[in-house]
Amino acid sequence: GRANIRVVAHDSSFAMKPDALELAIEDDKAAGRIPCAVVATTGTTTTTAFDPILAIAKVTTHHGLWLHVDAAMAGSAMILPEFRSLWDGIESADSIVLNPHKWLGVAFDCSVYFVRDSQHLIRVMSTNPSYLQTSADGQVKNYRDWGLPLGRRFRALKLWFLIREQGVTGLQQRLRRDIENARWLAEQVRQTPGWKVLAPVSLQTVCLRYEPVGMTGELLDQFTLNWVNQLNRSGYTYLTPAVLEGRWMVRVSIGAEQTERVHVEQLWYALQSAVLRTT
Ligand SMILES: Cc1ncc(COP(=O)(O)O)c(C=O)c1O
Repeated sequence: GRANIRVVAHDSSFAMKPDALELAIEDDKAAGRIPCAVVATTGTTTTTAFDPILAIAKVTTHHGLWLHVDAAMAGSAMILPEFRSLWDGIESADSIVLNPHKWLGVAFDCSVYFVRDSQHLIRVMSTNPSYLQTSADGQVKNYRDWGLPLGRRFRALKLWFLIREQGVTGLQQRLRRDIENARWLAEQVRQTPGWKVLAPVSLQTVCLRYEPVGMTGELLDQFTLNWVNQLNRSGYTYLTPAVLEGRWMVRVSIGAEQTERVHVEQLWYALQSAVLRTT
């Protein structure tokens, strides 16, 4: 349960602090607890922050811990060579998950799971009753032995079709377009009085807030939720509010296949109008 989970402190860019991880492990060990795994995230849900895998892997290797990397959303961007440094150290991960059904654009659902040593899964999950035995056993990977269900859909086919249809270059262009659009939006927000970008814009997520002069605390929370909810109810656009450092803010996540610069421009006007209507 939750009692066995440690939430590790983060730095000002919302990335896990490897020294805090080291301390948490040592604390647990000193208290007689046995840490078993570390879950790092490359592209956190709230801000798309990147935990420093290289430094974290040094800690997990030193302590002999499983390192899982959750790259559900931002893993798609690792097809862009110019962003691969965000994944430095990934070769040390024991397991990685990414969801091509998110930003990459595969029809829902398609999650990809890589595991360094499948024997851990096979030891726990495999069953070998007589009626499942075939002459191909031992010659093929039998994914029924890697997870709980015996049957599964052929989800990889959708990913293969997408790559064939758009090509790696096409996919890269689309992701670069989204990143450029996010940077454009962040620039507008930074330049406009009262508006703030609240987290580094590492890829396609912009965390923002409008802060009327002198408004803080719960009043600011109420104000933010009011204008976001109004905008969402209008059906014009959909923003996801989230709590960052204890206060509500707005996540603009740009990544739908059809979203072009013009839509982000329209969104920026819609944000400003919503705030004007609420003040
Ligand atoms: C970092 C991260 N991990 C995991 C998830 C959830 O993934 P899934 O739908 O595969 O459970 C999300 C968002 O949905 C996410 O942003």
